[in-house]
Amino acid sequence: MRKVCLALSFLLIGVLALPVLAQDMETPQMGWWDECATPENLPDTVTIGVVFGLSGPISVYGGPQQQAVQLAVDEINESGYLGEGTTLVAMFEDSAGDAEQAIAAMTKLVEEDQVVAVIGPTLSTEAFSADPVAQENGTVVMGVSNTAIGLTDMGDFVFRDSLPESSVIPGTIAQATEVLGLEKVGVLYGNDDDFTLSGYDVFVQALEDNNVAITNEQTFARGDVDFNPQLTALLADEPDALVVSALAAEAVQIITQARDLGYEGPIIGGNGLNSPSVLEQSGDASNGVIVGAAWNIASPDPLSEVWVSNYQAAYDATPDQFATQAYTGAWLMATAIRCGDSADRTAVRDALAAIQDFPTPLGTFSFDEDRNPVHTPVVQIAQNGAFGVLGAEE
Ligand code: ALA
Repeated sequence: MRKVCLALSFLLIGVLALPVLAQDMETPQMGWWDECATPENLPDTVTIGVVFGLSGPISVYGGPQQQAVQLAVDEINESGYLGEGTTLVAMFEDSAGDAEQAIAAMTKLVEEDQVVAVIGPTLSTEAFSADPVAQENGTVVMGVSNTAIGLTDMGDFVFRDSLPESSVIPGTIAQATEVLGLEKVGVLYGNDDDFTLSGYDVFVQALEDNNVAITNEQTFARGDVDFNPQLTALLADEPDALVVSALAAEAVQIITQARDLGYEGPIIGGNGLNSPSVLEQSGDASNGVIVGAAWNIASPDPLSEVWVSNYQAAYDATPDQFATQAYTGAWLMATAIRCGDSADRTAVRDALAAIQDFPTPLGTFSFDEDRNPVHTPVVQIAQNGAFGVLGAEE
């Protein structure tokens, strides 16, 4: 009798567990599966355009972004998120970090290929040039790494899921000032790029708000390789920290050359320093680099843990902040298409703008009334080639 009861119990447990297991295997944890009904009115193929810097120095961001979007698209299709019979296609174009190339890519996707919406371009400088093409054609464009001030002011079809510098840097400077006791810093920034200029403006305001003096300011241009004159001038004042607004290629040179000049103190950067590639290329010199971010790999959010493990399984590499924002962006776009049950460009815009409290690896995500992202940033410090959370380091 006892054996029969035991066997029945196992059978019952097995039957009860079946739907759960089946759901785990087939349904990604991402997505509004219950909040929005399965679409019934979508065409067989829904094509979105994607413009990323896939070649040249900017590919340190664009490469992981492309992998992340493709992974999201695969998950969306394999799970039937847009309804059985509808396939989401991502049409990738390379902007190479160049504004003119970004305009050409955007024009091709929006006017020739007639995509439903566009994700990208990678750089704010590219976006300020190319996004007006999408806006004029009534097509959603969603930046997933654009962090310059004023990006969404270009129009009501312009969105981003990347926290702007103004949402991240004030907290970075406040926390760094508290942890490091900053009193005076030297500032180095690129003066020919919308993102690095924005970062500079926000840094200056945040430093003033925290009563940190700027002893000297120096500038550079994209493509520069020798920063010794600027660094020598800045270090002469013995600052408590160097504050740097730069993209990845220039950041690597600035970090390594500052250390070569004997500087051992903190280097506080903006979003451009967020790539693990900056740490890899800088080696030990990157120890002590502090940068605010939208996401850190140590996030205990269950969706983040699943995302990290899926990305590792797909690419045998760990995702970075840029990949995480790109992955989230693809799911946001698919969610707008699902919830609007339409591939009409204006319907996608309206459904995207309505997204509030959407669970993502970045945390619970909403768009504000200006189509900018709302979620919580994190302050990171580089140690031994990896980004840890400032204040939580061993
Ligand atoms: N965050 C950088 C930009 O906006 C990549 O250009």
